[in-house]
Amino acid sequence: MKTENPKMPAPLSGRGITRRGFIKGVGTGAAAAAVSGALSTAGPAESALLDSNEMHRVVLKVNGRAHTQLVEPRWTLLFVLREKMGMTGTKPGCERGECGACTVLIDGLPRYACMTLAVEAQGSDITTIEGLMHGEDLGPVQKAFLENDAFQCGYCTPGQIVAAEGLLRSNPKPSLHEIQQGMSGNLCRCGAYVHIFQAVEDAAKARGGK
Ligand code: FES
Ligand code: FES
Repeated sequence: MKTENPKMPAPLSGRGITRRGFIKGVGTGAAAAAVSGALSTAGPAESALLDSNEMHRVVLKVNGRAHTQLVEPRWTLLFVLREKMGMTGTKPGCERGECGACTVLIDGLPRYACMTLAVEAQGSDITTIEGLMHGEDLGPVQKAFLENDAFQCGYCTPGQIVAAEGLLRSNPKPSLHEIQQGMSGNLCRCGAYVHIFQAVEDAAKARGGK
């Protein structure tokens, strides 16, 4: 049975954008995307079409700071974070919603930045791996990954840490099974899963969860 991956964005129809409108928009040179609050609110489908030939001004709230950017409607949040804002902690992997390397928190929930358009993320609170630092110090989840040796090459690690942070915000005392489920949208080619799950358990304890 196919299970829903919570890190994937909501279906287009759930965001005030019809699939028909999206296809029509792409076909006529316009990408469909709602400029404001698209991840959580619905609006008229046709008015959500943006001209893909034009740059659009968006204000992205990343790690508590507002950043004004000029973006093309087709640009992903992943692309804008890395290439326009220089926040390279968020990693590109598959760039099609399969690996989780690009995981960020959007309004506190883990989401794939490669599957989220930058224009959609306007109006939301975006947290990247950089935003989990406590000043110059590592945050509790970052520390737990370090102490548990929960990585080998480290490429998947920022996404794993952000996913773990999101999991612990919604479930401060996860069981091992809940950790495995919560982290299931983040793949590790090095197979460091046992250490990753232990790190999440330890981070839960460090955060006072258990
Ligand atoms: S890069 Fe986004 S899920 Fe793989
Ligand atoms: S540590 Fe290498 S991909 Fe996860």
